[in-house]
Amino acid sequence: MAQRWAAKLAGLDGFLLVTPEYNHGTSAVLKNALDYAYKEFVRKPVAFVGYGGVGGARAVEHLRLVAAELQMVSVRNAVHITGGDFLGLWQQGKSFDDFPHLAQAAAGMLDELAWWAKALKIARENAA
Ligand SMILES: Cc1cc2nc3c(=O)[nH]c(=O)nc-3n(C[C@H](O)[C@H](O)[C@H](O)COP(=O)(O)O)c2cc1C
Repeated sequence: MAQRWAAKLAGLDGFLLVTPEYNHGTSAVLKNALDYAYKEFVRKPVAFVGYGGVGGARAVEHLRLVAAELQMVSVRNAVHITGGDFLGLWQQGKSFDDFPHLAQAAAGMLDELAWWAKALKIARENAA
């Protein structure tokens, strides 16, 4: 199982992690998934989508520290889905169109992630 997970990661040039927030950290399941590989993450970019009372902001910042130890580049822009966004979607009949800041944040984040994915892929190939 761990070997299949590592093999899957090895073929990827960048990562987008979606995290909840549990006691101001990320989920144990996501941390465990990160802990089960290492070299497959090194010198690759990672971006984050967080959700929770304050948009999973504390969990995302926690993950940035983990990413540093995995020698990843964590991109600055992130998407934070707050409790207010969530309640609107869940209970007030709103759609993602009612929260343009999320699409705007996602566009900036994905642009940055794509830039780093291309740049680091070239750098990894040239450094090999
Ligand atoms: C033990 C526990 C701790 C939690 N801590 C936080 C927290 O620090 N910040 C937050 O925004 N939500 C917190 N929550 C709420 C979770 O983010 C919420 O339950 C969410 O649905 C979890 O995502 P998941 O169901 O996709 O795992 C906590 C929930 C539990 C059960």
